[in-house]
Amino acid sequence: MSPSYVEDPSPGHGSLSPRAHFRSDARSLSLNGDWRFQLSPSLAAAPEGIEHPEFDDSAWTGLPVPAHWQLHGHGKPAYTNVVYPFPVDPPRVPSDNPTGSYRHTFTLDADWLTQPAVLRFDGIDSCARIWLNGTELGVTKGSRLPSEFEVGPLLRAGENLLAVRVHQWSAASYLEDQDMWWLSGIFRSVTLLARPTGGIGDYWLRADYDHTTGRGTITVDTVPGARLSIPELDLHDHPAAQPVELPAVEPWSAEQPRLYHGELATDAERVPVRIGFRTVSIEDGQLKVNGQRVFFRGVNRHEHDPRHGRAVPREIAVADVELMKRHNINAVRTSHYPPDPAFLDLCDEYGLWVIDECDLETHGFERLDWAGNPSDDPQWTDAYLDRMRRMVERDKNHPSIVLWSLGNEGHTGANFRRMAEWARDRDPGRPIHYEGDHDCAYVDVYSRMYASHQEVEQIGRGEVDNPRHAELPFLLCEYAHAMGTGPGGLLEYRELFERHPRCQGGFIWEWIDHGLLQRTPDGREYYAYGGDFGESVHDGNFVIDGLLFPDRTPSPGLIELAKIYEPVRITAAPNGIRVHNHHDYRPLDHLSFHWTLEAEGIPVATGDLPVPTVHSGQSVDLPLPELPATDGETWLTIRAVLATGTRWAPAGHQVAWGQLPIAPATTPARTGATRLLHAPAGLRLGIGAFDPTTGGLVSLGGHQVTGPRLDLWRATTDNDRGGHPSEAGTWRAAGLHRLQHRISEIHLADTELLVRTRVAPPGLSFALLADYRWTADQDTLRLRLDLEPEGEWPCTLPRLGLHLAIPAEFGQVEWFGGGPGEAYPDSRQSARIGRYTASVDDLHTPYVFPQENGNRVDVRWAELSTVDGQCFRIAGVPTFDLTARRWTTADLDAATHATDLHPTDQVHLHLDLAHHGLGTASCGPGVLPQYRLHPGKAALELVFSIPR
Ligand code: GAL
Repeated sequence: MSPSYVEDPSPGHGSLSPRAHFRSDARSLSLNGDWRFQLSPSLAAAPEGIEHPEFDDSAWTGLPVPAHWQLHGHGKPAYTNVVYPFPVDPPRVPSDNPTGSYRHTFTLDADWLTQPAVLRFDGIDSCARIWLNGTELGVTKGSRLPSEFEVGPLLRAGENLLAVRVHQWSAASYLEDQDMWWLSGIFRSVTLLARPTGGIGDYWLRADYDHTTGRGTITVDTVPGARLSIPELDLHDHPAAQPVELPAVEPWSAEQPRLYHGELATDAERVPVRIGFRTVSIEDGQLKVNGQRVFFRGVNRHEHDPRHGRAVPREIAVADVELMKRHNINAVRTSHYPPDPAFLDLCDEYGLWVIDECDLETHGFERLDWAGNPSDDPQWTDAYLDRMRRMVERDKNHPSIVLWSLGNEGHTGANFRRMAEWARDRDPGRPIHYEGDHDCAYVDVYSRMYASHQEVEQIGRGEVDNPRHAELPFLLCEYAHAMGTGPGGLLEYRELFERHPRCQGGFIWEWIDHGLLQRTPDGREYYAYGGDFGESVHDGNFVIDGLLFPDRTPSPGLIELAKIYEPVRITAAPNGIRVHNHHDYRPLDHLSFHWTLEAEGIPVATGDLPVPTVHSGQSVDLPLPELPATDGETWLTIRAVLATGTRWAPAGHQVAWGQLPIAPATTPARTGATRLLHAPAGLRLGIGAFDPTTGGLVSLGGHQVTGPRLDLWRATTDNDRGGHPSEAGTWRAAGLHRLQHRISEIHLADTELLVRTRVAPPGLSFALLADYRWTADQDTLRLRLDLEPEGEWPCTLPRLGLHLAIPAEFGQVEWFGGGPGEAYPDSRQSARIGRYTASVDDLHTPYVFPQENGNRVDVRWAELSTVDGQCFRIAGVPTFDLTARRWTTADLDAATHATDLHPTDQVHLHLDLAHHGLGTASCGPGVLPQYRLHPGKAALELVFSIPR
């Protein structure tokens, strides 16, 4: 039997009223560090009397605080998306309820006893009972929310004993069913804070900005007698109770996060404050800050680190914010709980719009058709309201927060309505967001997740049934599921956000893959996902869906997003260059523009491009700079870079770029055709040797090769596998992964070898007729592949091209074409025409769950070389898509973790005419019609040579 508090829907007891999180000159003592710890399989099995000094914990182990016990060898992490990993029987939880007993002693000097003090826990997952020096302080729930307890009278000079009992499961677990790892323990800081009598118990500083006059107004709610000083604004010891009117202030925005530094003081305490003037409003169906519609170039951020789980150290928050700023992201939704407070400080400082989301999700009830959902059940009302209060009170002073979100995926109900009403009453200055209020009955913005492009277009045009949906600002709180390769279709979303003023952007799902760092038995590191810890109920790799890999390396999806979210667009104008300022507020004066002229990818000239002041929303057309004459295909690349360093990037950091074609490629003249030779060892045509019985190429320039052979398959991506029916499912049902190649004719002509084939899956009658036509001149071997479908094709094609395997020694690649990173038809805005080099190993993108990756688009030519300078060259007529990897597509398709991939003794090349797009069907819309690859008549032409 559990004591009632564990299974009690109430928010807990004993804690103080919530208040703002702030630092002051009052004493504080961090209690983070090494604590004594023991994990018991249930509450019943947990030791009694841990709160008493005489309790013997010598048999316990140490555990760091903050941390999750599962990441320190006690119990195991478990991942589920929607389903509760225990029977749905609210508010009851399993008797097998892992319970962590914690003890920590700390020493105080006598000064601590002269004033009141509170003990603050910034986050405990999921429910804790707390004692100090043998006296019970209370019980707290609400894992990602703070709790404070009055402890002054209990403190002792000398040694003090804090004892905490944490339960993995509690009634509150029903409210915390977010799509993430179940991880328990005291995972955020624990602090003892002196609360001087007459000090600043709490404060709320609101700084409004009137964009029509430039005036700022400050109002402060705090203790009587407090004084506000802002030396920069010539404000000194102003009575805080009286509003301050300032005739001219600089506003705060995500683009220019101007913070004024000040101090709020009483005789007993001084609190440093930071003031950002901004006013959030909804006018004309648009969400505005300081009178200006904002465009959310957003991401959803969970707190995750591959070693620490959600116990993220401050450096991680800094890394995230800097990475976001460097990739043109301007907004964050703190999915799906208030983050560690340090993150919000950084958002204020660096400039990010924030949707602060409450720690509340009951998604698992969806499987029961929402029967018994707490969201509409009065016994949970207190818990819902308590969570909202604790978030709003903690975070109310952050200018970066422009919307409060009630939570995520908890369906709808009276309790959400009560939260909204409470928050609106408490803070009329911030609109309310909650996607689950589909009717928009109690929210201020219309929010959707994963709406298709077509639907966003309809919403933008106001073609909706519910009038609320036509009048409120619209945003996608989640879109473009960044799981595996992709997402595809970002460009078209951006176009919609730019076309419809009420469509104010969205938040990519999601920022980072939640992989947990593990080792194989032989010591190789890999990232674990659902099921890797032996969970009986789990959702596999659905937790690996971020723009960052778990180690925070940007994935190709983030590189693409940075291009899509560029706040400046550089394109061709009728007679020159167009520079369009897509910032919401600022002119382009903080950027400098430079150009580079490249012929065949080699720089031939560079220069600065003077750009006059361009205000937000405006553009300017500039003449082309004076350019020298060049030989070969020539491109002009213009880059917009930071003119001076900022706190998130040095001067010279690239914010945006554009490319203009200057001169097209010239076609090299062909020398006389070479004759097909019938040598004793086989057929020879120029540098190629062929098998006379199959007509297949066996060697090229003396190096053994396998192929080229038609290949339609790709190692299916998470997005290919998503949707009903999935694209991958139809491809597999059509047998595209096991095609058979029948040679129907080998025709030997004077200067040509023609091999006709019929390529088809077993058991089915449709086919692709593939003709390989080989010709050669002195130095080059040329292949023309003609394709023609036969019969009724039931599906699209994953890819259309050739597989060619060459010896493993050819491990270095240089190419002229799209790069430097991978690209696919619907995710290729970040591919720039240039000359690039990479090793075959580096061309592979290490997705945590291996899948198709690494395609380079628009390749004019590629050279593969060995360390000792031997080289193959493949040129497209005019271009092809290139993939090079050390394993086969089948190996890649079979692998479930990166450590499953082992190099073969060949480099496997894919020389493709086309690819199917990526889409985001792993959660959301599939591939847009224009990026779907349908079978049809097609031809691919390639020229092979051996450069000397
Ligand atoms: C949403 C949900 C997210 C996440 C996402 C899929 O429905 O809000 O938490 O589960 O789907 O990855």
